[in-house]
Amino acid sequence: MNHLLTLQDLSREQILGILDLAKNIKADPARYATTLTGKSIVTLFEKPSLRTRVTFDIGVNRLGGHAVYLDQQNGAIGNRESIKDYAKNLSRWCEAIVARVYSHKTLQELCRYASVPVVNSLCDLYHPCQALADFQTIAENYSDLSQVKLAYVGDGNNVTHSLMLGGAILGMEVAAICPMGSSPDAQVVLKANELAKANGGKIVVSDSLDALAGYDVVYGDTWVSMGDDTPLEQVKERFAPYQINQQMLDRYGIGHVLHCQPAHREFEITSAVMDGPQSIIFDQAENRMHAQNAVLLSLIQHD
Ligand code: CP
Ligand code: NVA
Repeated sequence: MNHLLTLQDLSREQILGILDLAKNIKADPARYATTLTGKSIVTLFEKPSLRTRVTFDIGVNRLGGHAVYLDQQNGAIGNRESIKDYAKNLSRWCEAIVARVYSHKTLQELCRYASVPVVNSLCDLYHPCQALADFQTIAENYSDLSQVKLAYVGDGNNVTHSLMLGGAILGMEVAAICPMGSSPDAQVVLKANELAKANGGKIVVSDSLDALAGYDVVYGDTWVSMGDDTPLEQVKERFAPYQINQQMLDRYGIGHVLHCQPAHREFEITSAVMDGPQSIIFDQAENRMHAQNAVLLSLIQHD
């Protein structure tokens, strides 16, 4: 594993290895406290962030390393100097580049010229670090991931794609239940189906909420992703039936609730569910740090 751009590049063993390491880091942080001593990680963000920015910064610090945050003070990546030069310069100073970008192509360009690992911390197509933390959180509640049925509801987006691809590799059943016109990308669905077939998983894409029956975990995300200026109020009516609320959980016998956050309470999820007993949303947020630390230790030569 040289970079982490999308989970589809990983084998089942690699994903399970990262999840296992994440579990160990969480259980015994002292054992890993000096693994990145003397190492620096650059995290660059074209888009806003709370969880990703803070968990990489504090996470790297917990491993004894140093994180350098780059925002858009110089404008979008590639404006002041080429992405090529950006990658070639950063590679002389740091041991890994973590990047949150508008376009997946920017990550591919960074990878082409960087001589250090590049980690995708969200782009238009994928959010692999998120999905790894999600699988870690599910594994904390279910003994065998391959037996878990996970249903994403709402807008088919970057998070949906990473859950489908990663879940397929892990042999899970993953459903994307999205209103018509907001389905996940057809190419990604094709790839996820292919991976599911090879790994004993199953992918379901539907606009019908009744497809939720029998799922263990329901997962929500914003109805409007970063980079899209459509006001939430404007899409509220179309997405309202897909809101995660207690009635939905009871009707379909759902066990647990995940949401990648930031959440819009009373839009895609009710406050009562988010703070309720079936929510494992804040464990999920905590696990961002452990899962990412496992990714960094898997990519960087360390003690
Ligand atoms: N879930 C997530 O990536 O959160 P941030 O956008 O706050 O980083
Ligand atoms: N789909 C969301 C995820 C935020 C963490 C977005 O891209 O804005």
